[in-house]
Amino acid sequence: MANQLITFDEATQSFHLKNNSISYVMSVEEGNVLSHIYFGKKINHYSGFFKYPRLDRGFSGNLPTSLDRTYSKDTLPQEFSGNNTGDYRVPAVIIKSESGARTTDFRYVSYEIINGKPSIKGLPHSYVIDENEAQTLIIKMEDATLNATIELSYTIYANRSVIARHTTINNNSTAAFDIEKLASLQVDLPKQNMEVISLPGAHVRERQIERQLVKHGVTQFESRRGSSSHFMNPFIALANPNTTEFQGDVIGFQLVYSGNHQFTLERDYQDQTRVVIGINEYNFDWQLKPQEVFETPEVLMVYSDKGLNGMSDTYAKLLRERVARGRYQYAERPIVINNWEATYFEFDEKKIQGILDQAAPLGVEMFVLDDGWFGHRDDDNSSLGDWFEHANKLKGGLRDIANRVHDKKMKFGLWFEPEMISEESQLYREHPDYALQVPNRGKTPSRNQYVLDFSRQEIVNNIFNQMTKILDAVDIDYIKWDMNRNMSEVYSMAYAAEQQGEISHRYILGLYDLMNRLTTRYPKILFEGCSGGGGRFDAGVLYYMPQSWTSDNTDAFARLKIQYGTSLAFPISSMTAHVSAVPNHQTGRSTSLKMRGDVAMSGVFGYELNLGEMEDGEKSEVVNQITFYKKYRQLLQYGDFTRLKSPFESNYTAWQFTSPEKDIAILFRYTGLAEAQAEFTTTQMANLNPEMIYENVTTGVAYGGDELMNIGLYDTLQKGDFTSEVTILKAK
Ligand code: GLA
Repeated sequence: MANQLITFDEATQSFHLKNNSISYVMSVEEGNVLSHIYFGKKINHYSGFFKYPRLDRGFSGNLPTSLDRTYSKDTLPQEFSGNNTGDYRVPAVIIKSESGARTTDFRYVSYEIINGKPSIKGLPHSYVIDENEAQTLIIKMEDATLNATIELSYTIYANRSVIARHTTINNNSTAAFDIEKLASLQVDLPKQNMEVISLPGAHVRERQIERQLVKHGVTQFESRRGSSSHFMNPFIALANPNTTEFQGDVIGFQLVYSGNHQFTLERDYQDQTRVVIGINEYNFDWQLKPQEVFETPEVLMVYSDKGLNGMSDTYAKLLRERVARGRYQYAERPIVINNWEATYFEFDEKKIQGILDQAAPLGVEMFVLDDGWFGHRDDDNSSLGDWFEHANKLKGGLRDIANRVHDKKMKFGLWFEPEMISEESQLYREHPDYALQVPNRGKTPSRNQYVLDFSRQEIVNNIFNQMTKILDAVDIDYIKWDMNRNMSEVYSMAYAAEQQGEISHRYILGLYDLMNRLTTRYPKILFEGCSGGGGRFDAGVLYYMPQSWTSDNTDAFARLKIQYGTSLAFPISSMTAHVSAVPNHQTGRSTSLKMRGDVAMSGVFGYELNLGEMEDGEKSEVVNQITFYKKYRQLLQYGDFTRLKSPFESNYTAWQFTSPEKDIAILFRYTGLAEAQAEFTTTQMANLNPEMIYENVTTGVAYGGDELMNIGLYDTLQKGDFTSEVTILKAK
């Protein structure tokens, strides 16, 4: 290891994780309680003497082993708090033992520092490709009464402002116990008046940025839907009130998990804020038998002193470079034509040939056959679970379609919804117990479908076998992996009563197992995640699939907020975005083809409309869009992304893509509603080299980098609603 990133000072019993940008400090206090000291900007030299002040506070009790009335777990900032032992704040771990006690108190025992980063079994996680790029501290904590140990794992990367944390518990006793809650992370931040930024949303309105003061009491951001969900993304950031996109402190927390999650904040009576993050304790109860181990998902903590853009840049690079994997991790992603909004369920080989004939000459690179090609699926009421070809829809079958697509020198993509079952299906007739259901109760339908019980290996295997049969027979280049409802009646017909609290998490383990087996077996296939649009847009899915359908809402104006919000925590290369027809099918709004193109190009680009209905003028505009995108695709998919003006704040949105060398930048500006006698506005760019001279490639005007960042450019006043402007600046 070139650099020692983690040190332990024996004298002061303190840990210091440090790289060029961040420091994380903890110490072992009296009674072996592990306290949190600091997470933030790098501290070159830490004395080891920043001790939490001692004071006898009323109604905050003391350690059972000490008569010191000035020392209490109820006030001390900590790294992993127990339950029912005098710390009244939200606990990180609750275990119900054989005796019925729900009492936990894990104390520090020892530590180990290892080079690199171990993997987490069965769960997605960030990784290293070289042992020297990170070090991992594993802190062992013990609850002697339970005879259980917890390992807190902290990885610090040498060159990223990231700490990756997760927790492992071992049952060393001779009796089973129930884990009712086990957080991936706890951290007690001794800061006042922090604001929390979260990404709530809904189907077709995903990841809308919300920012609020963290008030006294408990604030919770969670999903109980069995998936990470449209409704609350597994991400929050804690910022100072004066933190903006460009300056100020912020700490991001992102859970690498696709199931029920829980982000809890508690501002205590001393104005400290406890953060506890992990699998949601709702409907969770894991029976851990003697000698068994349970590992939690991982949380990626990011610190930035350069505002929200700084945090997002760290996340984008981390997720792109050390969470995403496979052949497409850095590959330029193909431009898609998807038939969904063009045909919905009504297609045959002639219609598809029509789409191909239209799309190929325009320069489109991949055709995706969406929902409706399997079982006897002619609408969304049947056939999920029957992954064999629809007998009457495509004469010649999928193979013929694949040939037709490949004849056009395009790639062929196919839609699947592997986790679902329709009652009207062969699979259901043969295996009604395959659906999640509670005995003697009705099942809640949603989109007239049910969720397969992926906690059972044989069900995962069944779907795997059905899918491989298709994938082995047909030359498929891409899969869109959909998931179109949330879970209810979470219960498995195959597990014992005392294990029913394990099913939601076991489902996710089964899901990851299937994703892992398919992505490993078919490395040449590009997988795209989807869940009614962006309902499972999370770092867990991204580990298997480098891109996801951002939203079923393809309206360009609505997409500004959705894509802006998504970019807070995810890289542009993970966000797919398509141009669709107007009036838009979700909002009824009409926007210009230019605006639709300029929004979709700020993501992984494609089309989702009937090209046959376009006029010649529009088609040549499409050719121009595709030519432009191909020329700048590397920059648009993998360049540095900076948010400049927020659609959540005004009528104007602006963002920018910049090459790593800062020699080329593309500025996108969008205006919502037009106004008469509108005021003149300017946009200041960012992330340029102040010393460089940049030429506007359209006008030939040369600007100083510092000029563009400080004076900026006037925005063009355009007539009509929903307009956009793209400016390319190249260093001379
Ligand atoms: C979901 C997806 C859509 C489409 C439909 C098909 O809603 O997000 O893009 O694939 O399912 O049923």
